[in-house]
Amino acid sequence: MYCVRKVTEDVFWVGANDHGLHLFENIHPIPLGVSYNAYVLLDKATVLFDTVDWSCCRQFLENVEHVLQGRPLDYMVINHMEPDHCASMEEIILRYPKVKIISTEKSFMLMRQFGFSIDKQELIEVKEGDTTCFGKHTVTYVEAPMVHWPEAMVTLDLTDGVLYSADAFGSFIALDGKLFADEVNFDRDWIDEARRYYTNIVGKYGPHVQLLLGKAAKVLDKIKYICPLHGPVWRKDFAYLLDKYQHWSTYEPETKGVLIAYASMYGNTEAAAQNLAARLCEKGITEVRLCDVSNTHVSELIAETFKYSHLVLASVTYNLGIYPVMLDFLEHMKGLHVQKRTIAIIENGSWAVKSGDLMQDFIDKNLKDMTVLNERLTLASTMHADKAQELEQLAAALADTIAPSS
Ligand code: FEO
Repeated sequence: MYCVRKVTEDVFWVGANDHGLHLFENIHPIPLGVSYNAYVLLDKATVLFDTVDWSCCRQFLENVEHVLQGRPLDYMVINHMEPDHCASMEEIILRYPKVKIISTEKSFMLMRQFGFSIDKQELIEVKEGDTTCFGKHTVTYVEAPMVHWPEAMVTLDLTDGVLYSADAFGSFIALDGKLFADEVNFDRDWIDEARRYYTNIVGKYGPHVQLLLGKAAKVLDKIKYICPLHGPVWRKDFAYLLDKYQHWSTYEPETKGVLIAYASMYGNTEAAAQNLAARLCEKGITEVRLCDVSNTHVSELIAETFKYSHLVLASVTYNLGIYPVMLDFLEHMKGLHVQKRTIAIIENGSWAVKSGDLMQDFIDKNLKDMTVLNERLTLASTMHADKAQELEQLAAALADTIAPSS
């Protein structure tokens, strides 16, 4: 049975929701699912914008068939050929053998590399600024390399202002009927997963997102709908969404506050983290999030790191090194180009305390524009009362850089 929604008079969402996939890209947990969005434009010609992951192909094909109402499919525009969006294209070709495929040169190259049979079709290679008229609707193509793969483009319908934005402005969480962002409480229920999606999937490519935002800014008055490949469609509150993207893509924190990420074996480093959190709150700094790195998926740690201005890394020493899970977090920060944060260090060890120096060294060598506070807390196994003053100094230093007292 088909399951579609109308975006505009001429545009239909024909995507599908996936609650069966545990790990997006086989790495990021998606407990609330994800949607793969595809859209059909009905004009003099019929046009499909992107396809869906193989797992949802059956639902997608029923949706396309329903919307076309017996018409042939004339064009398939592939904005992003990553298999979570492109995997079903061969099924489309089988059912609509005359469909012409519109995409970028790199995209066609990657399709062949992935083994997709496209070469019996008419392939229309487009580049920045090219246009296609489908009847009433004329679209233009905008290259969006590395948002999130090198071949990506976005397509703007100049007639009705629909921006098919590929991975840009996407989010985790299955739609489950609610297509538009204004049909959900986005800031309450979606923003954390939208941030986790952006920061882990596209976070590395901030400068490329900035380039795309710059192009979008020039035609912002023309954009009426933003239709990403995951998550809800936007038709209002663009300023809210763009503000988030501006922060994330420039690595500027959204919130003045502290993420305390701790690696603890027997609860002693955790106790120091808890004590620090309490002292920060005593000083009026209540935007504090505590995360046990062993029990918090690294994709969430990354999302929280993008959110907060300050980061406390509290780690035991393990095999004379950084606790492996903490090291993994640091490696992800490096990979995703996390930068512009103020960092404090807490280290612990029972006979050779190394983790603090090693974390400092990692930060100095691998992370850009980080300020590491001089106030470091060093623990030997557990936090005895004589450490209270150092901890208080650390809390004061953090508080002072968040909300300077004078
Ligand atoms: Fe959802 Fe980059 O693909």
